[in-house]
Amino acid sequence: MAIGVGGCCAVLLAAALLFSSPATTYAYDSLDPNGNITIKWDVMQWTPDGYAAVVTLSNYQQFRHIQPPGWQLGWTWQQKEVIWSMYGAQAIEQGDCSMSKEGSNVPHSCKKHPTVVDLLPGAPIDLQIANCCKAGSLSAFSQDPANSAASFQIIVGHSGNSNETVRVPKNFSLMAPGPGYTCSRAMIVKPSRFLSPDGRRATQVLMTWNVICTYSQFLAQKVPSCCVSLSSFDNDKTVDCPTCSCGCRNEKSTTGKCVKKNAPDLQSIIHGPGRW
Ligand SMILES: *[C@@H]1O[C@H](CO)[C@@H](O)[C@H](O)[C@H]1NC(C)=O
Ligand SMILES: *[C@@H]1O[C@H](CO)[C@@H](O)[C@H](O)[C@H]1NC(C)=O
Ligand SMILES: *[C@@H]1O[C@H](CO)[C@@H](O)[C@H](O)[C@H]1NC(C)=O
Repeated sequence: MAIGVGGCCAVLLAAALLFSSPATTYAYDSLDPNGNITIKWDVMQWTPDGYAAVVTLSNYQQFRHIQPPGWQLGWTWQQKEVIWSMYGAQAIEQGDCSMSKEGSNVPHSCKKHPTVVDLLPGAPIDLQIANCCKAGSLSAFSQDPANSAASFQIIVGHSGNSNETVRVPKNFSLMAPGPGYTCSRAMIVKPSRFLSPDGRRATQVLMTWNVICTYSQFLAQKVPSCCVSLSSFDNDKTVDCPTCSCGCRNEKSTTGKCVKKNAPDLQSIIHGPGRW
C-alpha cells in the first residue's frame, strides 16, 4: 500500500469525501466495465392493432445478481399504446382504461409509463411462458448462465402493426430493485434467429430492438462514496487515491484520480481549519 513519505511512523487516515452529483453520471462500473443487462424485444407476430412480442432480459454481468423482489422494467409508449395482455410478467398498475372502446375487452394496462415485474414461480400455468416467472431474479451470466435470462410475452394494441409504422417504446428504466441502472434508447437490430431443436431449420422474428442497461454505483448510492488515502503524520500532502477506488465515473479517465487536484472539497480538507 502506498504511504506518503515522512519519518514518523504514525499513520493518519485522511478521508476525502467525494460529493458526486448523479446528474451527469456515466453509468460505469469499474469492477465490471463491460457488464450490462440487455433487454431484447422480439416481435413474433403483427396483430390487427399492434403486435405480440417476447421480451427477454439477459444479465451479462460478471458478478451482480439480481435477487427478489427483483427487476422492474419501465418504459414510455410513444403513442396511445395499451397492453392487451401479458404472460410471464405483469404491469404493476392497470391505470385508467376508461377510454378503451373495445366493449368487454379491457386491457391489462393503459399506463403511459407502464412498470412491469416478474411473476412468481407458482403463477397459474396459463399465465406462464418458457423461461419466465423467477420472482424477478437474474443470476450473473458468468456464474449461472441457465438462470441469467428471463422472458415475458406482451400483446400490444393501439399501435403501429408493421415494421414501418410501429413506434418503439422509449425512456426505458430498470430497477433491480433499487436504482443503479441507466438504459440506452431502444435500437433496432437484426431480427433474432432461432434454430429448431434438431438444428435443421432456422426461423427469424419479424423485428427486434434492444435496450442496453448498465450499472453505476454513483446512481445506486445517494450518499457520497468515501475515498480513503493514507498520509504520514508530518506530511501535508495526501497520497493519491488508488486507481478507481471510488469507482471511476469517466471511462476515458486515465489518471485514475478520484478528485481533481484543486477540487474545493479536497482543498478544504488539506488546507481547511481542521487540518491535522
Ligand atoms: C453487453 O454484454 C454483451 C455480453 O457480454 C456484449 O456482447 C455486448 O457487447 C454488451 N453491450 C454493450 C453495449 O456493452
Ligand atoms: C420492413 O420489412 C421489409 C420487408 O421485410 C424490409 O424490406 C424493410 O427494409 C423493413 N423496413 C424497416 C424500417 O425495417
Ligand atoms: C420517463 O419515465 C418516467 C417514469 O418511468 C416518467 O416519470 C417520465 O415522465 C418519463 N419521461 C419521458 C420524457 O417520457
